[in-house]
Amino acid sequence: MKINKLTIRGYQYAYLDLGQGIPWLFIHGFPLNHRMWLPVAERMQGAVRAIVPDLRGFGQSEASPGIVTMADFADDLAGLLDALGIRQPAIICGLSMGGYIAFEFWFRHRERVAGLVLCDTRAAADTPEMAQHRQATAERVLQEGPAFLAEAMLPRLIGPATFHQQPELAQQLRQQIESANPAGVAAAARGMAQRRDMQPALSQITCPSLVLVGSQDVISPPAEMRAMAEAIPKARFVEIPDAGHIAPLENPGLVTAAFLEFLDQVASAGEK
Ligand code: MLT
Repeated sequence: MKINKLTIRGYQYAYLDLGQGIPWLFIHGFPLNHRMWLPVAERMQGAVRAIVPDLRGFGQSEASPGIVTMADFADDLAGLLDALGIRQPAIICGLSMGGYIAFEFWFRHRERVAGLVLCDTRAAADTPEMAQHRQATAERVLQEGPAFLAEAMLPRLIGPATFHQQPELAQQLRQQIESANPAGVAAAARGMAQRRDMQPALSQITCPSLVLVGSQDVISPPAEMRAMAEAIPKARFVEIPDAGHIAPLENPGLVTAAFLEFLDQVASAGEK
């Protein structure tokens, strides 16, 4: 599959551009890359134009030093849509850190959002302890590289059912984490530590929204995601059985079915 490259706001961005239809932007989690979305994006390309970037500092996209905030990522992605000539509202879909960025995209560019898809993510900001932990992670990854992150995160990323039934997925995620660029990981960790609390804004999200979570997600648990969905006026809530935090990679078939149903909802909202 051909990965494209473009310079966005001074940094080289790598991305896939698959299929035709309403634009659907897939935003990956931390510290992964566009590959986590591939099984779903490939299934969706008959119905949508799937734009699947590596965020700044991840995968094959260029890193910038210091800190990259969720607002920086959101503005990069708006710049990517501009560079691709996409002016019509798009579906903005993010997982975990990608969800923080999707929220921020809505906050800053809401006229460009046809629908919001929030997967395995959180609306709350970091507690001071979490923020401090992220600063420590940033220092450590710059000193010793990302391998320790794979050890720390992997058992929490995918559910126990996936661990047993699809052990190759754990390997694939390990490879994504271990090959991550330390500068990109550190900058995003610092950015996540500073992200805004979206909870007070949830009631203002009036576009069609889908909140999706793996039933075994221990990072953004189903109860928290359900509460998020209840706070967003037009949100649907979908729980994917036997999946953890990376539900779209663990069960791409069910996640694609939920996304296609949501697409119908967005299309009928557009017709009204
Ligand atoms: C992610 O999957 O993107 C991370 O778990 C997000 C986070 O560390 O808050």
